[in-house]
Amino acid sequence: MPLTSIFEKNSNWIQEKTAIDKDFFKDLSKGQSPEILYIGCSDSRVTAEKMMGAKPGEVFVHRNIANMVPNTDLSAMSVIDYALTHLKVKHIVVCGHYECGGVKAAMKSEDLGILNPWLRNIRDVYRLHKSELNAIKDEAKRYNRLIELNVQEQCINIIKTSQYQKAFKDRSVTVHGWVFDISKGKLIDLEINFEGILKEIMEIYQLD
Ligand code: CO
Repeated sequence: MPLTSIFEKNSNWIQEKTAIDKDFFKDLSKGQSPEILYIGCSDSRVTAEKMMGAKPGEVFVHRNIANMVPNTDLSAMSVIDYALTHLKVKHIVVCGHYECGGVKAAMKSEDLGILNPWLRNIRDVYRLHKSELNAIKDEAKRYNRLIELNVQEQCINIIKTSQYQKAFKDRSVTVHGWVFDISKGKLIDLEINFEGILKEIMEIYQLD
């Protein structure tokens, strides 16, 4: 994609939008009230808004390598805090994807420098679910399952935050675990029962 064509495409997009609604951008500038926080992978093939058919203003987005929610990551924690405390989102989605290079890299015995501590969180997911994963003989299937379990564990990391626990007490706010199947363009809801998980782990993670 030549960089110069981007500005031309931007002009076309402005024309397209304002042809349908002349105040489109003026209205957009008034503020945002998205109901969904989406946390996904930075992978260029997993376009957050496009695959959901979302319009500007509808989804608050955070992306990083392998859709992680490390409890000590200031960026992810700030996004969650802002989304829950100020935007008051109703849903938080963690969306992983098959063919995730981050998850693949984490499972290699290789020194990846600055990526080591980041990807080690995925090794921890493997360790937590080692017996289930090791029982899967087919390597591709085992890798897909690790991707799904990583989504689940990152959702649990959201539940561990005080911001989520406070918001959950006040109103309805739901966590969802999804995966995107790149080869089909399909979004899959893993249908993880987070309310059940929440009850189960609160004994350990309850903050007040
Ligand atoms: Co990825």
